[in-house]
Amino acid sequence: MQDILFECPPWPPLTLERGKVRDAYLLPEGERLIVTTDRLSAFDAHIGAIPCKGQVLNQLSVWWFDQLGPQIPHHFLSTPDPNAMRVRACTPLAVEFVMRGYLTGVTPTSIWTAYERGERSFCGHTLPDGLKCFDALPTALLTPSTKAPRGGSDQSVSGAELIASGVIDAATFERASELAHATFALGQRIAESRGLILVDTKYEFGIDAAGELRLIDEVHTPDSSRFWRKADYAASQAEGRAPESFDKEYVRRCLKALGYQGQGSAPPLSAAVVAELSGRYVDIYETLTGLPFVPSARSQERIAALLERITATLEA
Ligand SMILES: Nc1ncnc2c1ncn2[C@@H]1O[C@H](COP(=O)(O)OP(=O)(O)OP(=O)(O)O)[C@@H](O)[C@H]1O
Ligand SMILES: [Mg+2]
Repeated sequence: MQDILFECPPWPPLTLERGKVRDAYLLPEGERLIVTTDRLSAFDAHIGAIPCKGQVLNQLSVWWFDQLGPQIPHHFLSTPDPNAMRVRACTPLAVEFVMRGYLTGVTPTSIWTAYERGERSFCGHTLPDGLKCFDALPTALLTPSTKAPRGGSDQSVSGAELIASGVIDAATFERASELAHATFALGQRIAESRGLILVDTKYEFGIDAAGELRLIDEVHTPDSSRFWRKADYAASQAEGRAPESFDKEYVRRCLKALGYQGQGSAPPLSAAVVAELSGRYVDIYETLTGLPFVPSARSQERIAALLERITATLEA
């Protein structure tokens, strides 16, 4: 039986907050312990669990935070376990900062979905006529989306609309937008040097106790980003097929093929699809970082032992 980290245990006196993929414990002094589980979500719904996924997402984000350097303030402090990171607690902005380099996507908020419907204005950007699915956009675009409450669907919106509706103030939007563009440019450059295209991604920002805006959550993982292989991209465009993708687009396409697009509960994924997905997570980790992926066993016991160590230090 393969190791799966599905849910982290409640661990009083620490407060536990469960996200779709991450379980976070609130620590004293403005810190959080974020544990990335193997849970898989797509179309904003819970799909199942994928072996090694949590460890890949955690270690890949840690690797990216390390690459970002001092010009991008972020929340990462340390990684006490292959599935966990200690971060600065921040108040998340109510906006997802989506950066897009290509015309693609199959969800209702995707740029291709809108373009295919004939829309030539997307989140305040004017799009030229004559583009095909998977074409590069003339420049990388910030296409923010609102964070829908649980059960709802995110909406793509322009910065101007977000500011006008009071979701975010203009100065914070400007600063987050500058950081999103800089992080995406750096991510594209590094991905390119590894033979990959960073197609698009979703960033979250938060404000720390000192009022500083920081990149939070995860960075350039296959859950938050779309990746294509550079070598396959040109051929796929000439052949008029989808580029081979390394990311959650694969699961979205599998679910779409089963007739599922986010309504009701998702159909179960076959064992073969689960194994394929796990391999894809590991593959992207190794391709991006150039490091071998070493799976860590007994994740449940490790996390319990980590929590025990943390609470013992608090009580001391
Ligand atoms: N440094 C931080 N301080 C406070 N909250 C954070 C920090 N980093 C991440 N978060 C929050 O932790 C949660 C992580 O949850 P998770 O990624 O599992 O699910 P989600 O964000 O609800 O769903 P999805 O990622 O599919 O949109 C998010 O709500 C995110 O805003
Ligand atoms: Mg998230």
